[in-house]
Amino acid sequence: MHPSSLAKYRPFPPVALPDRTWPDQTLTRAPEWCSVDLRDGNQALPQPMSVEEKLEFFDLLVRVGFKQIEVGFPSAAETEFNFLRRLIDEKRIPEDVTVQVLVQTREHLIRRSFEAIAGAKRAIVHIYNSTSPLQRRVTFGNASREDIKRIAIEGAQLVKALVPSVPDTEVVLQYSPESFSDTELDFALECCNGVIDVWQPTPANKIIINLPDTVQWTTPNIHADMIEWMGRHLIRRDCVIVSLHTHNDRGTGVAATELGLMAGADRVEGTLFGNGERTGNLDIVTVALNLNSHGIPTGLDFSDLHSIRTVYERVTRLSVPERQPYAGELVFTAFSGSHQDAIKKGLDLRAAALKDGPVAWAVPYLTIDPQDIGRSYEAIIRINSQSGKGGVAYVLDREHGFELPKTMHPQVGKRIYSLADELGRELCADEIRDAFFREFVNLTSPLDVVDYELVHHTTERGRVLCKASILLRGERHNCEGFGNGPINAFVQALEAIGRKDFKVTDYRSHAVRGGSDASAAAYVQVQHDDGRLLWGAGVDPSIEMAGLKALVSAWNLLR
Ligand code: KIV
Ligand code: ZN
Repeated sequence: MHPSSLAKYRPFPPVALPDRTWPDQTLTRAPEWCSVDLRDGNQALPQPMSVEEKLEFFDLLVRVGFKQIEVGFPSAAETEFNFLRRLIDEKRIPEDVTVQVLVQTREHLIRRSFEAIAGAKRAIVHIYNSTSPLQRRVTFGNASREDIKRIAIEGAQLVKALVPSVPDTEVVLQYSPESFSDTELDFALECCNGVIDVWQPTPANKIIINLPDTVQWTTPNIHADMIEWMGRHLIRRDCVIVSLHTHNDRGTGVAATELGLMAGADRVEGTLFGNGERTGNLDIVTVALNLNSHGIPTGLDFSDLHSIRTVYERVTRLSVPERQPYAGELVFTAFSGSHQDAIKKGLDLRAAALKDGPVAWAVPYLTIDPQDIGRSYEAIIRINSQSGKGGVAYVLDREHGFELPKTMHPQVGKRIYSLADELGRELCADEIRDAFFREFVNLTSPLDVVDYELVHHTTERGRVLCKASILLRGERHNCEGFGNGPINAFVQALEAIGRKDFKVTDYRSHAVRGGSDASAAAYVQVQHDDGRLLWGAGVDPSIEMAGLKALVSAWNLLR
C-alpha cells in the first residue's frame, strides 16, 4: 500500500456486535428471489434494452422461475411506463408472478407509478431515498437526518394513501434506505422503523424492507453484522420481509449475500450473471447454484444455462466471462493433467456406483455435476501443453471410442502435448484424433505391408501361416512365417528375412465405439533388443489386419 494511502482512504468501522450469531448458521432453505435485471441491470447497460428485448428477457425470467420481477422505473421514462403497460394490457404476467416498480419518494413520481401498475394482479411498489452521511452531505447539500427521515415517512404515507386507487391490484409495499451500506445503523433503523410504523404491516400482510449494499465499502462479514443488527432492532420483525440487494464493488456480492442470508435475511434481489451498476449486482445464478450444490432447492431452473446465457448476451450486449462461476465457458474444463486424471477417475467410479442406485456427487475438482446445468462431460477435458497423460487418453476414449491401454497413455500423451506446445495453443478433440493417427496408427514407413494372406492350420487350432508381401524402404520382399495367431506368424515372417530385432510384449484390441464404419482398433507393444518399449496402433475393418498394422506401426516407431 502506498504510504499516503491512509491519508486518502480510511478503514471501515466495524459493527459492535460481539454476540453475533450468523457465523454459526448453515443455510438450509432458499430465500425469496427478485430479479432486478430489467431495472438495475438495464439502467447500467451502455445500450439499454429495447421494449421487445425487455419483453423477451421478462419471458426468460419467468421461465427460469422468478416470482418477483422488478420491471423498471415507470415514472422515470415513457418507454419504461409503456413497457409495464404492455405487460399488463397484453396479459403477459403469469398469475403467480408479481411485478415490482421502483420509485423515488417524490409525489408526482409515486402517483405516476400507481398509474403504471393499475390492472396488474399483484405489484410491489418499491420506494427509496438515500440515507448515508455522504449522500446527505454531498448529494443533498448537507441535509439533516430529520430532513431525510421526513422524505421517507412522507413517501410511505403517500403510497399508503394511493393503494386504494388501484382496487384491482394487490399492492405490496417495499422501502429501501438507499446507501444503507454506509448509513449509520441507528439512522437506517430510524428511517425503516418510521416507514414500518406508517405502513402497519401484519404477519398476513407483510412489507419488504430492502437493505441495499448500494456501494460495497467493506467486507462481507461487516455487511452480515449490519443485517443481523437490523433484524434484531426492526419493529414488527415478524411482519417484515428483510431483503438484500448487494452490489459487487469489492467483488464480494455473492459472499455478502450468502453471509447476509446467514444473518437472517429472507429475500434476495439480484441479476443474472451479475449485471448492474458499475461492477454489477450479485449474480443470482451463482447464489442459487451454490445453494443447489448443498442440496437446497431454489425454485430457479438453470438446467439449460447455456440458452439463458445466449438470450442474456444477445439482449444486453454484454458477455459472460469465461471464468464466471457455473456459466463461464471454461469452468468445467480441466487443463492440468493431474486434475484430468482425478476427474476421469471420479467420473468412472461414479458411473460404476450408479449401477447400484443413486449416490452423492463426489468428483474431484467439480463442485456440481455439469449435466445439471446442461453442460456435457465431453467438454470437460481439453488438452494443452500443461495436460497430463490421462487427458489425451480420455478424449480419445470419450470422443472417438479408442480405449488405449494404460501403459500406452504416457507415450501418446507426451507426443501430443509436445505438439500442443509447438503450436502454443490448446488442441481440440478432432486435432487430438488426427495427431494420434498421424503419430501412432497404421504407420507405413519405412515398413509397409502391401499384401498378406493367412492360412489357418487344419489340425492345430490357432496355428497360422502368414504369407506377406512387404515394402521396406521402397524395396519389396516376400516372406512367410508360422505362429500362434496372425501377429506371431507375421513376427516369424519378419524373422525369416532378418528383420526381427524386438519381441511383442503386449497386445490389446477392441471394436471402435461410435465410428461410422465398424472398425477394430489394435495396440501392440514391442520391446527392442536395446530395451526400448513402444506401443503402435492399427485401425482396420478386420481385427486381424488391425493387429498386423499395430505391429508394423510399433516396428516403424522403433526406427
Ligand atoms: O443499489 C441500490 O441501492 C438500489 C436501490 C434503488 C434499491 O438499486
Ligand atoms: Zn442497486
